[in-house]
Amino acid sequence: MVFNDNTQVAPLLKDSLKRLEYRGYDSVGLATISEGKIYIKKDKGKIDEVEERITLTDLPGNIGIAHTRWATHGGVTKLNAHPHHCCTNKLAVVHNGIISNFLDLQEEIEEMGHKFISECDTEVLPHLIEINLRKRKTKLKEAVIRALKRVHGEYAVAILHEDYPQQIIVARKDSPLVIGIGSNAVFAASDIPAFLHLTNQALILEDEEIAVLTPNRVEIYKLSDPNTIIPREPITIQWTSEMAQKGGMPHFMLKEIHEQPRAIRNTLLIDPENIIDIAKMINNTKNVFITAAGTSFHAGLAGSYIFNNLTKTNNRALISSEFIDNVGNIIDDDSVVLGVSQSGESMDTLTALKFAKKAGAKIISITNVVGSSITRLSDHIINTQAGPEIGVAATKTFVVQLIAFCMLGMQLGKIKGAIDQSEFRDLKHHLDFLPDIVQKIIINQEENIKIAADQFSKKDNFLYLGRGINTATASEGALKLKEISYIHAESYPAGESKHGPIALIEPDFPVVFVAPPDDTQERLITNIMEMKARGAKIISVVEIDDLKIQKLSDIKFIIPSKVPNIFTPVAYIVPLQMFAYFSAIKRGFDPDKPRNLAKTVTVH
Ligand code: G6P
Repeated sequence: MVFNDNTQVAPLLKDSLKRLEYRGYDSVGLATISEGKIYIKKDKGKIDEVEERITLTDLPGNIGIAHTRWATHGGVTKLNAHPHHCCTNKLAVVHNGIISNFLDLQEEIEEMGHKFISECDTEVLPHLIEINLRKRKTKLKEAVIRALKRVHGEYAVAILHEDYPQQIIVARKDSPLVIGIGSNAVFAASDIPAFLHLTNQALILEDEEIAVLTPNRVEIYKLSDPNTIIPREPITIQWTSEMAQKGGMPHFMLKEIHEQPRAIRNTLLIDPENIIDIAKMINNTKNVFITAAGTSFHAGLAGSYIFNNLTKTNNRALISSEFIDNVGNIIDDDSVVLGVSQSGESMDTLTALKFAKKAGAKIISITNVVGSSITRLSDHIINTQAGPEIGVAATKTFVVQLIAFCMLGMQLGKIKGAIDQSEFRDLKHHLDFLPDIVQKIIINQEENIKIAADQFSKKDNFLYLGRGINTATASEGALKLKEISYIHAESYPAGESKHGPIALIEPDFPVVFVAPPDDTQERLITNIMEMKARGAKIISVVEIDDLKIQKLSDIKFIIPSKVPNIFTPVAYIVPLQMFAYFSAIKRGFDPDKPRNLAKTVTVH
């Protein structure tokens, strides 16, 4: 933020950060300029703790930037916290997003004599900007544009420079950034609640645009055309602060369902070299185990099918609380254990992994929280990139765990020679399409799913069935429904349903089939017929062109295009998440805070 009077910004910046606290973070920092000198304070920890320790709010000046960091590259340390600066300490940068080519850029910049002091991908930006300023004698805006042109990945950035003491440069690509226009100040933030208490006038910066903020003026340019100012009128924000925190959505869970395309896209940017190293380790080990709890177990179960089908790797997925009792005595130093956990803190999973480590096994973790306990005992880590998840019922963290297994399975399949280069390329092509498919499902199916949720909201029992890899999808669909709508939902491998669960079926009993048109389809149709013969109401998650299954279904949740078998859980779970959400709403429950459940379970 930048003021046209002598308002001290530091306390206001801290207050704005507090308003974004719900997003989750692990460190905090501020930079201001006063009398032509830049000041930076930052540390790991919560805003109030850091304030208590180093007093952020005493920084002088009427212009400043601030940031809370959710670690992606580099651990949770003071040096990795934002703002980042260059070697001369004249400029400060805060950044949301991921710079995927930062290792290449870092090498290049170091060769020019610059020193990096953090492990954070963002640090390439201040160095690049400084190099451009010095070498080319350009203005700050041009230097920033040149730097951003070198960067792959996504960003929303804000930049301060001592020599431009009344200017903040902001820019974005695939990461949100909004500008607020106040009566005596200009603001910019990744989310509206940061400044909604100060102004309700906002300018939306579009992708690949840059803006120069001065106290009384905002100039917006395209990164590709830095000489032409783009005229833009502010819009009036009608949201309450509470609504704004949820991006205008009524609940975090719905917001997080909607964030899934982006979460998948970001996870697909994970460095392939890291995945290849892990695949090599698995390839060189005899016993492969996957362990997890809750929703993460369902991702692990799908992962097990992916390993078996795509890589011919013999492996087992086990619920963490059963891990030691079941396979404890066969874990040895020729074992690798993959622990899957969105929080990285679940006690059951942590205990299983500690045990395995002690027995000599190698540990790989798939988590969404950098620096979490599980990552600290791991030999290799896959950090999924869902961003913070607030809703207790996991949604976006589940789909990115699946993506991690798909990426790992593909690399392992290639190493083992189970898939060739052209099959790999074909799968990669389909993988890159998943965000669009998920997006279409969310947009096109919402009304249909709401109607179905209304229709079945008074039911007491549901059965969820699937075959092959989608036994995992059925299990996750049932778990979502029972977690937040409190309807009893049981899942079974469809083929097993005739050995017991079918006794429950009476007219109008709802049975959900996860029914992609794969090798299991004919056998699944037999199971659908068995249920129909007893009067069940058939709800299917089905591909748009699959008229066979659609004809047998009373309710259809449509998947808009073909998805390779091993990727089907990523798309087919989405309507079931939405069905659970709208069922909870219809029944009058808060899906963000289901009774008796916690987001992170640190007890046995
Ligand atoms: C709790 C949560 C679930 C989650 C499970 C495992 O039960 O309510 O949503 O799936 O823990 O958590 P983890 O963090 O290990 O994935």
